[in-house]
Amino acid sequence: MRIVEQDPSHSSWYIERFREMAAKGDDLHGEARLVDAMLPRGSRVLDAGCGPGRVGGRLHELGHRVAGVDVDPELIAAAEEDHPGPDWHVQDLAELDLREDSGQRRRFDLIVCAGNVMTFLAPSTRGDVLAGFAEHLAEGGRAVIGFGSGRGYDFADFFTDAARAGLREQVRLGGWALEPCSDDGGFLVAVLGR
Ligand SMILES: C[S@@+](CC[C@H](N)C(=O)[O-])C[C@H]1O[C@@H](n2cnc3c(N)ncnc32)[C@H](O)[C@@H]1O
Repeated sequence: MRIVEQDPSHSSWYIERFREMAAKGDDLHGEARLVDAMLPRGSRVLDAGCGPGRVGGRLHELGHRVAGVDVDPELIAAAEEDHPGPDWHVQDLAELDLREDSGQRRRFDLIVCAGNVMTFLAPSTRGDVLAGFAEHLAEGGRAVIGFGSGRGYDFADFFTDAARAGLREQVRLGGWALEPCSDDGGFLVAVLGR
């Protein structure tokens, strides 16, 4: 939200950028392809830091039951317009709290966190965000989190924070197309389990 305060047109620029890419027929589904391969049809998926709904929208089209959360109301409005179907929520991931109508904690088979979301968080909230993911995972559920290096969040620190939050490393990849992870790699996709 600090980025938006500094540049109030940032969100509309971001929304239009993805609309233009979609209109051109660009492939915007790499993350959703990997996630879909990990799940049976009809799974419960949370798109964490969903922005205008690119990943969650595609997973909904593929037949999953999707919720999305983002802190930016303008991006959530765009998700509702461009990708109707999932339930989209304005929430800060540091205070993630999704509930069933019964009031019980909502749980997901998979939480996907794509597009460098982890590096946009205030560093003091990273642990809370990861703990919130752990709390919202169903038994056997997994979180899939991808972000680039050189953005202020060392991969080693991330795995330490994840372990503290109760998320165990299952698979470490170098990209959403199953690229191998290398020590000097520029990107990380981590699959974490409860
Ligand atoms: C680069 S965008 C990625 C959007 C989407 N995941 C994608 O890959 O298309 C980063 C997103 O993280 C969201 N974000 C950053 N901090 C957040 C927080 N504390 N809670 C919820 N969303 C947050 C931003 O609003 C933005 O939509």
